[in-house]
Parts: sequence; C-alpha cells; structure tokens
Amino acid sequence: MNENIKPRRVRSIPALRDLTAETIAISKKLIMPHFVIEGENVRQDISSMPGIQRVSIDNFIRDAINDFTLGIKSIIVFGIPSIKDEKASGAYDEKGIVQRAVRALKNECPDICIITDVCLCEYTSHGHCGIVTNGKIENEPTLELLARTALSHVAAGADVVAPSDMMDGRVFAIRAALDHNGFSHIPILSYAAKYASSFYGPFREAAESAPAFGDRSSYQMDFRNAREALREVLLDIDEGADMVMVKPALAYLDIIQRVRSLVDVPICAYNVSGEYSMVKAAASLQFGDERKLVVEILTAIFRAGADFIISYHTRDIVKNGWL
Ligand code: PBG
Repeated sequence: MNENIKPRRVRSIPALRDLTAETIAISKKLIMPHFVIEGENVRQDISSMPGIQRVSIDNFIRDAINDFTLGIKSIIVFGIPSIKDEKASGAYDEKGIVQRAVRALKNECPDICIITDVCLCEYTSHGHCGIVTNGKIENEPTLELLARTALSHVAAGADVVAPSDMMDGRVFAIRAALDHNGFSHIPILSYAAKYASSFYGPFREAAESAPAFGDRSSYQMDFRNAREALREVLLDIDEGADMVMVKPALAYLDIIQRVRSLVDVPICAYNVSGEYSMVKAAASLQFGDERKLVVEILTAIFRAGADFIISYHTRDIVKNGWL
C-alpha cells in the first residue's frame, strides 16, 4: 500500500472540487417537453406529473417563449388530437395539432429549436404506434405514415424530427421522404434504443396514448437486453440517423455508456415521465430534497455519456437556477 496516495487531497475545498469535477451538467443541454391540445386558453394539470400541463396552442406559445427568454432554447412537442382513428390521420394532417403549434411558434420565435416526436400512438384509436391489422402491429404500412408525419412537421417548421415508434426501417423511410422534398438539411434524432418500459405510465396519461389492447413489446425493446440496443443504434445510424436516443435514462445508464463507447454521433437520453414523477412524489413526501435529487440524476446521465437530455425537470432547473 502506498500511504502517500490520498484521493481526499483534491476534495478539500469546493473550488478544488469544481476544478477536478469530471462532469458538468448545464442547462443549455436540456430539452423541455410540451403537450399540446385543442382549444383556446386551456391548461390542464396532469395528476401523475405535478408541474406539467397540457395546454392549448396559445398557451403553448406563451410558455415556450417565456421559457426561451429564461434560457430554454430547445423543446420537444407532443400533440394530443381531439379525434383519433385507425389510420392516425391527425398525425400527418397539415392542419394537425402539432403542425399548427409548430407553425405558430416558429413564426413568433424563429430561434427556438423545435423537435417533434414522430409517432402514431397519440393519433390511433387503439393507441398503438403503428397500423393494426387483425390485432397485429404492421411494420411496412406504418413506415409511409411515419414519413408523411415527419414531412408535415418539417414543412410546418420543425428543426429536428424524432421518430419514437420503433418500427424497423423508419429512419430510412423518413430520411428519404425529407430528402425528396427539399429537407435534406433537417436532422433525425432517432429513439434508437427505446425500451418497453413501465416508466412511461404518466406520459400515457398526459398523451392519452395507452394501448387499448396488449402492450408495446412487439416493437419496443426488452429491458433484459443490452447488446440488442447497440444493434438498434448501429442500424439507425446506417439508415441515416444524425443523433440517437436511449430511453428511459435512469435505469439504463449502462446502455448510455455502451452506446457512448460504440458510436461518435451525439447521444440524447430521455429522462422519462415515470422518472420525473418518482422524484416529485419523493419530494412531496419529504423523502428527499428535490433540487439535489434532480441535479444528481441529471449529472449521472451526463456522466454515463449523454450529450443532451430531454427532461420534464428542465423548467424547474432553469427557473430556479439549480445548475
Ligand atoms: C410515443 C412516446 C412515448 C414517450 C415518448 N414518445 C410513449 C410510449 O412509447 O408509450 C414516453 C415519454 C415519457 O414517458 O416521458 N411513442
């Protein structure tokens, strides 16, 4: 044993700890999610996600601009249509909820980075992320609709499209549709390693997107698998993904780390609804200090290798100067 080696020497005072810190979490690396619904001047609380609301387009614009002036430069938008059908028509309607919201916000605030979630589950009557025939979620017919959805988001002004459906080949289909329509400059952030997770529960309340039958295990990944995530990531990059996502984040830090050591494209981690709700519940029961929990969790996600994070905590962090 070498008694001269004392790791505590560099932990003695805060300034030295800051100098030697390996990971710096900063709010510029965070993305705030928004849930947009039909109507005017509507604000609905989401009972399982305290502090997050579903808002109509007018309030969405107000909130996003307010956040932008505070320093939240990037958002991800989810739409909840008033009508759902078998073909998810609202997903690729030029006058759909997301398309109108994006168009209106870009008009008012051109410098904001708008990412749109490209999926069908909020728009299908059965709540699955693809077209259903005889109880099966069909891959190929879904691709065309996803590509149309992505194209309509970009035509409305989205800066980045983020397919979250987990169909095979969707990145390629979306890339082709964008390229053929003059949008070869628009990047794709693919939800590449997206697991079938119980941590999405609160989101499904917010987005009214719980599947009416079965679950998402025939398309989202099995949480027992890690090597498969690497395969999904490589496939998506091969199909043209510019950035890849690991989702959820907190129980999947090993996946983030493995993806980080495998690829050089930017990696996003999604600190999902259930992770948010757990922290809010713990804080409200006084089982933990909310600020400290949030900072530790987000720093751990960055430490694992994420370049940026989608988190419902973003507004609290930026408003209160937690980072
Ligand atoms: C749509 C989608 C989901 C989430 C993001 N996009 C739900 C799901 O796959 O069931 C979950 C986000 C969260 O829990 O915060 N497919």
